Amino acid sequence: MMLNVKKLHPLFVGEASGVDLGRPIDASTRDAINNAMDEYAVLVFRNQPLSQTQQVELAKAFGPLDIGLKRLKKQPDRMEHAELADISNVGEKGEAVGRDHRKLVSNIANQLWHSDSSFQKPPARYSMLAAVQVPTKGGDTEYVDLRAAYDALPDDTKAEIEGLEAEHYALHSRFMLGDTDYTEEQKNALPPVYWPLVRTHPGSKRKILFVGIHARAIKGWTSAEGRMLLMDLLEHATQPKFVYAHKWQPDDLVIWDNRCTLHRGRRFDVSQVRELRRATTLDVEEADLAPA
Ligand code: OGA
Ligand code: MN
Repeated sequence: MMLNVKKLHPLFVGEASGVDLGRPIDASTRDAINNAMDEYAVLVFRNQPLSQTQQVELAKAFGPLDIGLKRLKKQPDRMEHAELADISNVGEKGEAVGRDHRKLVSNIANQLWHSDSSFQKPPARYSMLAAVQVPTKGGDTEYVDLRAAYDALPDDTKAEIEGLEAEHYALHSRFMLGDTDYTEEQKNALPPVYWPLVRTHPGSKRKILFVGIHARAIKGWTSAEGRMLLMDLLEHATQPKFVYAHKWQPDDLVIWDNRCTLHRGRRFDVSQVRELRRATTLDVEEADLAPA
């Protein structure tokens, strides 16, 4: 098998072809995809109809899987596998859920710029999002490259933020949207974690500006000053010139590297069905894994 990649944006993102993702991934295909991911950070595969089981198997070839916020058990689950996130506005009977359904809140939180599961340790490495059904307009997913964002910072800002740590908290994005209906147990289930604002992306050895909506504070700073810096940096990182917008077709599979990108969904008419499914690998090295 031969992985071909065509660049889709001046800074990152490739359209990949030549691989059938529904078949078991051998080591050379996995290595080719990992290498392309290190370079492009986002890979778009078209026409890859995957069953839920095939999608989980594909993701498992790249590492152990994340279950993210599912551990809070906020809502019943339609997926056949615990490792799949139901990125949809679809109810039990396949219908678009009503506007006041709580499922829409999670969906709408995805419309804020973020890196998946940056609120936990280990966080997410690869997210693999498959499109089942898409609305007639809207509902794109947008991406930015945090390496390009770092490179474009003025030198004095680079110096100012070197060594700073941001606090990432799972429910910050939810609280921001007015979704505060969580028990103390749920609020404490995912305690905040800290990541340096400036990190090195292991795959490309390039520096990244690690921001996003889960970051709510700068360690040692007042809430106000920290949050303002985070907002400024996020605004910088998400300038239109850095953004790639993916227009979904059914059977697309997009893989992104959460270590060096941010993404967000865009608004769409929620009376229409938008149905995607995500499998996500954890950012752990083989050596860190407990023996089986
Ligand atoms: C996700 C996500 C955005 C979208 O699946 O992690 O943020 O466009 N999705 O649905
Ligand atoms: Mn996401």
